[in-house]
Amino acid sequence: MTAFACIRNIAFLLMLLGVTTASAFAQKFGPDGAPNPTASVTDQKMLLEQAPRIQGRIDIPDVKASVLMQPMGRTWDYFHEVLLRWGGALVIVGTVAMLALAYLIMGRLRIEAGRSGQTIVRFKAFERFCHWLTAVSFVLLGLTGLNVTFGKVLLRPLVGPELFSDISQIAKYVHNFTSFAFLTGLVLITVLFFKDNLLRKVDIDWVRQGGGFIKSKHAPAGRFNLGEKFVYWLSVAAGLAVSVSGFVLLFPFYGTDIADMQIAQIAHAVVAILFIALILGHIYIGTLGMEGAFEAMGTGEVDINWAREHHDRWLTEKLAEGRQTSVAQAE
Ligand code: HEM
Repeated sequence: MTAFACIRNIAFLLMLLGVTTASAFAQKFGPDGAPNPTASVTDQKMLLEQAPRIQGRIDIPDVKASVLMQPMGRTWDYFHEVLLRWGGALVIVGTVAMLALAYLIMGRLRIEAGRSGQTIVRFKAFERFCHWLTAVSFVLLGLTGLNVTFGKVLLRPLVGPELFSDISQIAKYVHNFTSFAFLTGLVLITVLFFKDNLLRKVDIDWVRQGGGFIKSKHAPAGRFNLGEKFVYWLSVAAGLAVSVSGFVLLFPFYGTDIADMQIAQIAHAVVAILFIALILGHIYIGTLGMEGAFEAMGTGEVDINWAREHHDRWLTEKLAEGRQTSVAQAE
């Protein structure tokens, strides 16, 4: 055999080997790289272990119905049934415990100079409406959402499977429909309070002075202090994240597949739990934690001494504006 014939035969053998391997691969796996469940060389072990998933071929238009098994689903199930429950419980119970501790150590932050009896408008009616629209829908979304996470282990043993099923169905509708009110409130709040939540130089001074938590000092602040700005920006970001992921869940498989749905659910649940922890802190400061704060969103008016101690720059601006208005009216 000549050298040329020898090389030609080796090349032919290699080609044959390549074609056989490729056809075996094509037989084992479909065009998308997923195992072919009907191939004769596919065994059960391989089907159970293979990633990304096991998908067959179907004639009906609902392509997702062709997925026979999706191993990522087991990871997701572990997240939902174990990690989320324990992690979520830790975050929520931990936050409540920290706030209780703060109350025990610091007590209620009082108006140091006492009430002056004179008040100033802090939030107009429309601003309060937007706040309460968002707050009430947030609480409804939080309670009905937490029922999805914890209801099976906390509520079902108490009320029994039938009642739990009815409660969960109603809760699900409440969660779905309240989302629109929440999004409306979120957009309105974002726009209304945007300007007053931009960072300013006074925020640095506020931190330097201990943020008002050192009893002998009053930290300077404009309409909102740095702590409130922190809550505002985190709420805008978290509100956006739960809304986007929530609508992906609410309208399943519109441009998304099962993997996208799982990611959306994980993002929604994790952000929602952290968001609940943040708002628990916000509710604490606005009610139990600080004397005179709730009135701002209740009646809309705060005591002048409260304003002087917590938002001195804002009070000075408001009083100056008031003086200008009364001078203009007198002229
Ligand atoms: C536009 C806003 C929102 C929309 C469209 C939305 C939608 C959804 C949907 C469709 C689900 C799945 C329910 C199910 O599996 O039956 C869900 C779950 C959940 N949502 Fe929301 N949601 C929104 C806002 C919120 C907010 C603000 C919170 C927190 C206060 C929240 C907390 C939760 C929780 C904890 C779950 C359960 C997660 C789980 O365990 O799987 N959601 N949401």
